[in-house]
Amino acid sequence: MEEVKSGLENVVVLETGVSSIDGTEGVLRYRGFDINDLVYLPYDAVSYLLIRGKLPDDNELAVYSATLNEKRELGEYVQNVVRACNFNIEAMDALRTTISYMSHCDPDLNDNSEEANLRKATNLIAKFPTIVAAFSRILKGETPVSPDPTLSHGANFLYMLRGSKPTEIEAEAMEKDFILSAEHELNASSFASRITASTCSDLYSAIITGICTLKGPLHGGARMEVMNMLDEIPAPEAAEAYVLEKIANKEKIMGFGHRVYMTQDPRTIIFKVLAKQLAESKGETQWYRTAENIENTLFAEFMGKRGKPLYPNVDFYSGVVYKYLEIPPRLATAVFAAGRISGWIAHCMEQYSDNRVIRPRAKYVKPAKTLKA
Ligand code: ACO
Repeated sequence: MEEVKSGLENVVVLETGVSSIDGTEGVLRYRGFDINDLVYLPYDAVSYLLIRGKLPDDNELAVYSATLNEKRELGEYVQNVVRACNFNIEAMDALRTTISYMSHCDPDLNDNSEEANLRKATNLIAKFPTIVAAFSRILKGETPVSPDPTLSHGANFLYMLRGSKPTEIEAEAMEKDFILSAEHELNASSFASRITASTCSDLYSAIITGICTLKGPLHGGARMEVMNMLDEIPAPEAAEAYVLEKIANKEKIMGFGHRVYMTQDPRTIIFKVLAKQLAESKGETQWYRTAENIENTLFAEFMGKRGKPLYPNVDFYSGVVYKYLEIPPRLATAVFAAGRISGWIAHCMEQYSDNRVIRPRAKYVKPAKTLKA
């Protein structure tokens, strides 16, 4: 049997047309387009690109955005499920439960045709942010806010979360967050979703698999941990000692390191600029300066001791952006999921369209035993 690659490191498992990463040059492309260009489009256009494989023309985009607008409202039954999730939990747990309930109401639950899955896709993409916002408000004893059809996907989320319209810079940051979080090749949650889809299980089940996998702190859950870390460090000047103590205790710093990137993650560069702009616009730069001190300390420490840097990953400066957007930490991973849903769907649809069940092997390393003495 072949050599075992721990964590499937550098193992190429399948071919995809959804996205590509050049980990040496730090380039990420969705369907061939560089994210540095895509980030200037509306989330709806990027979402359409991911799930349909081509950029929409003006008419296609208008129709797609109108469909998302129609489907944003949760309706009484789904909202009641969100209400029933009123526990001291992360929004990810409420999202998982609510999506599972939504699947029960879908007459096409087990229809895996492209047509049925595209219909389910728009419903899921439209409702993810509404569920997260409603959960947050219910938890605070507030009434959920209906979406505003005049707002973009990102602005709508902040509006439903707060009950007031975000500023232009906040809306732009949220929209860009959803775009930059939308897709990332064969990350753990997209791979997990594809495994479920490869058994010809339904799209809801595959998406719930993605939710469950993204939640872990070594994956999307790191974003919440970054936010908590920023709360723990009392001032930017305290960041260096905080980080060095963690390293001395062999603890990981959340929001740093990556399996694929050997250089700066291109999303991090954009998120860092957004975090700085938000900090300056609000006249409150403490979190940004703390984050920069964490980054600089880790860079110097790893260069000095290992001869190679440790870079921040996508979860680091996005966590800082969420602080400035006043997104509660318990929502962070679910907000990430509200962007990533388009990528999960793109991967699942690719899997359904040319499927072979994903079934690797394991090497048995214990002795064979016999029942007889
Ligand atoms: N803090 C401190 N040291 C680190 C960190 C970190 N964040 N990341 C990696 N290292 C060190 C490890 O301790 C290890 O050192 P060692 O060889 O002395 O044991 C070395 O760098 C390699 O790290 P691994 O954990 O083996 O790398 P792997 O590719 O398996 O894991 C991962 C990548 C999970 C991202 C890792 O860097 C990590 O745990 N980071 C913190 C969690 C995090 O931010 N996750 C989000 C990732 S992005 C995303 O999923 C959306």
